[in-house]
Amino acid sequence: MKFKEIKFHHVFKAANFYFVVVIFVITLVFYSHFIPQQQNLNPTITVIEYQWLPKILQDTKNSLVKAEQKIQNFNTGKLLNVSLTALIPQTHDFKNDSTFVKVPDNKYFYEANWDNHLDARWGLKNLTHEKIKISLTETIKAFSKFSNKQGLRFWICHGTLLSWYWNKKIFPWDFDIDIQISWEDLNLISKHNQTFLEDRFFIDVNPWSKFRYHQQHNVIDARIIDKTTGCYIDITVIAKTTLSSGLIHDKSNPPHYYEFEELFPLHETELEGVKVWRPNFAILSLANEYGVTSFEQDYFNKYKFIPEYQEWVYIG
Ligand SMILES: *[C@@H]1O[C@H](CO)[C@@H](O)[C@H](O)[C@H]1NC(C)=O
Ligand SMILES: *[C@@H]1O[C@H](CO)[C@@H](O)[C@H](O)[C@H]1NC(C)=O
Ligand SMILES: *[C@@H]1O[C@H](CO)[C@@H](O)[C@H](O)[C@H]1NC(C)=O
Ligand SMILES: *[C@@H]1O[C@H](CO)[C@@H](O)[C@H](O)[C@H]1NC(C)=O
Repeated sequence: MKFKEIKFHHVFKAANFYFVVVIFVITLVFYSHFIPQQQNLNPTITVIEYQWLPKILQDTKNSLVKAEQKIQNFNTGKLLNVSLTALIPQTHDFKNDSTFVKVPDNKYFYEANWDNHLDARWGLKNLTHEKIKISLTETIKAFSKFSNKQGLRFWICHGTLLSWYWNKKIFPWDFDIDIQISWEDLNLISKHNQTFLEDRFFIDVNPWSKFRYHQQHNVIDARIIDKTTGCYIDITVIAKTTLSSGLIHDKSNPPHYYEFEELFPLHETELEGVKVWRPNFAILSLANEYGVTSFEQDYFNKYKFIPEYQEWVYIG
């Protein structure tokens, strides 16, 4: 009995010793991989971002570091946080899956039948890339002003975030602007539903926006539409629901999922000279959505990015 106890005790000690050795080796390997490069990194890569990096392949990491360096002067320095509770819907009807399935999915937003990136009511037929870009810029300018005044927090996402990465502008071939807002600010914008900003930009909020599970025909929660062109900003709401533990998401299928730290705090920056906010880990977020090749692919849609001009130039 006694002998057995001693043996067990020794085995336990030995196991402890090997555990410590293994942890030591893992730590050494980790540090030898990550610390040397860290000295060359720009300081905007934070400790939390480092926790994400081991998940990403080495060459991918180098692209991310390069991309981070490219955007390091894009920020004004202002941060804006959103609390986790702002993302959690206070109503509970949507949490009941069996009830939710019964919610109809009638399409709310209608697009022009000759161009599904224009509003059906106001869309023009003779718009050029140039005209669309001007219209979108004026729309985001009015919306940014409105948001500032109302305390509404929004951030650029998807293709708009990618175009921002290149030169803080909208791609010349883009046909819309994508932004996200929190669940809490959906309530705020809903109060302005069916009103015009500056007699021109129409705020239209989808009645299905309070349901946070996927609806194929109602992925977009709100739109800001320029009535002089039919061009619009697509707004999607980010909320935390029972759909996925911990992650926050929109209504796409599959949803775009985010970790809280990926988006918040927001960083103030500019898009076409207009003050906007971008996600905390904008680069990681873009890498997740479009892959790291999107940081280097400088030819698209017959446009080439010319570094000397910092512009996409049409080359036919
Ligand atoms: C932002 O808010 C989150 C959740 O409320 C909090 O955990 C985090 O520390 C805040 N970050 C900053 C920079 O204030
Ligand atoms: C969910 O909805 C079903 C059908 O309407 C209802 O019978 C059930 O009690 C609800 N469950 C909860 C938890 O609310
Ligand atoms: C485009 O069409 C609108 C009406 O559909 C018209 O008012 C405008 O003058 C046209 N612009 C050009 C450049 O043709
Ligand atoms: C916004 O207004 C439209 C038109 O009146 C209405 O159908 C829709 O339900 C409203 N949206 C919200 C979220 O109340």
